[in-house]
Amino acid sequence: MNHDLPSGGNPLRDVRDRRLPRVPGPCALVVFGVTGDLARKKLIPAIYDLANRGLLPPAFAVVGFARRDWGDGDFAALAREAAEKGSRTGFREDVWARLSNSIRFVPGSFDDDAAFDKLASTLVEMEKSQGIQGNAAFYLSIPPAMFPVVLKQMARTRMCDNSVRGGWRRVIVEKPFGQDLKSARDLNDLVDDVFTAQDVFRIDHYLGKETVQNLLALRFANTLFEPMWNSNYVDSVQITMAEDVGIGGRAVFYDSAGAARDVLQNHVLQLLALTAMEEPVAFDAEQIRNEKTKVLGAISLPDRLEDYAIRGQYSEGWLGGQRVAGYTDEELVPGNSRTETYAAVRLGVETRRWAGVPFYLRTGKRLPRRVTEIAVVFKKAPHLPFSSTATEELGNNQLVVRVQPDEGVTLRFGSKVPGSAMEVRDVSMDFLYGEAFTESSPEAYERLVLDVLIGDATLFPRNEEVELSWAVIDPLEEFWAGSKPEPYRAGEWGPRAADTMLERDGRHWRRP
Ligand code: BG6
Repeated sequence: MNHDLPSGGNPLRDVRDRRLPRVPGPCALVVFGVTGDLARKKLIPAIYDLANRGLLPPAFAVVGFARRDWGDGDFAALAREAAEKGSRTGFREDVWARLSNSIRFVPGSFDDDAAFDKLASTLVEMEKSQGIQGNAAFYLSIPPAMFPVVLKQMARTRMCDNSVRGGWRRVIVEKPFGQDLKSARDLNDLVDDVFTAQDVFRIDHYLGKETVQNLLALRFANTLFEPMWNSNYVDSVQITMAEDVGIGGRAVFYDSAGAARDVLQNHVLQLLALTAMEEPVAFDAEQIRNEKTKVLGAISLPDRLEDYAIRGQYSEGWLGGQRVAGYTDEELVPGNSRTETYAAVRLGVETRRWAGVPFYLRTGKRLPRRVTEIAVVFKKAPHLPFSSTATEELGNNQLVVRVQPDEGVTLRFGSKVPGSAMEVRDVSMDFLYGEAFTESSPEAYERLVLDVLIGDATLFPRNEEVELSWAVIDPLEEFWAGSKPEPYRAGEWGPRAADTMLERDGRHWRRP
């Protein structure tokens, strides 16, 4: 045996190494837009939870940057409140005491040279005071319109340059990754001009969800599923990302985006890519991103968009026993808005594995419940040796990956109903994370922030992925432009036209 050859065969082979907690080396995390919603609700709690789990290095610092007349103490107070409210692992004074020692705040606006000079000198000073060794990640938790000025400042002060302080410098970019293919390309060029590609981490927080990563384990660590994971056995795939919430306080952003740009372009297409991709030759960033990229590049749109690309907008209705307003009555939404809050589309994946298998995607706000799932629907058995009445209630076998809530996997198949007659009906076999494991799943942002500090880009989409996804969305937006979305009542499963779309194909949506 040639021991120089890689061990090969098992793309999950480095899982063994990952059982040891991965702790980053000394570093700082700089957050732009630290007073915003994302920072308060997700980032700061994630940083606190990492500290509580012992996953931050002793030499660590968090630096907030925002236009507030604040000192370190004011920012620490905001961070404490955010950690107390949002922590998953429970707030502990001793953990907080250690973390709060490493908190700094730099006040200033993005066009203020002096503020950025101060930020640069703070990072240098913290090499001594905190031992961060010149390593820093910059989190752009700000609207993309602000990117150019912030990136320019980072270039001017050379904060983005790995060589200046002899450490690493990384940038974390949040969605939206543009409005369309062109703006995404411009945004990518802008970031790639200032940082080298390997130092750019684009966050799609769905990839940080445990259940989404489990899709790869399910497919590539087992014998059971993969032989059937193709057009010989699969009838269709349904990917649902449903939310019961409305648009919250994000009317201005949401009304300019809509459901397709907000989540179809990123979260839902990433779920499709992981479902449809081939086995990577290694479980690493490059190979996994290569395989996802191939899928995204192979997506085809239906010929008749009028039948297979449906969008909707919620009107007033009832949800959870409460009356909720229609979309156009939400605060700051124009009364004549034509923005969609629901989108459903049928896509194809033009590869040998998936030729002819429809992928039905749907997402919406103010649907009956919050649920994200991937359902692989198998073909019916080619022959049923029972009387036709015995199998009246037998549906297609299904494998359902429940991304959230009730995280787990369900297998649906036919089983004999007890009794003297032969009657076959669908039953479910369930795997539930909450029951199978004692550890609770980390929040997506915990995992992703940690990965950035470690330098592991496996769970971050590459710029080609972002651009290929826009190439799917752009024609849909173009087709929808100027038309009115179909109405659906808040608390219903989307517009009637979305049901008709599946009925036309002899199928129906799952009721998750
Ligand atoms: C965000 C979208 O990316 O994901 C929001 O902008 C959406 O509109 C959110 O509500 C859903 O995330 P999660 O993790 O709650 O499913």
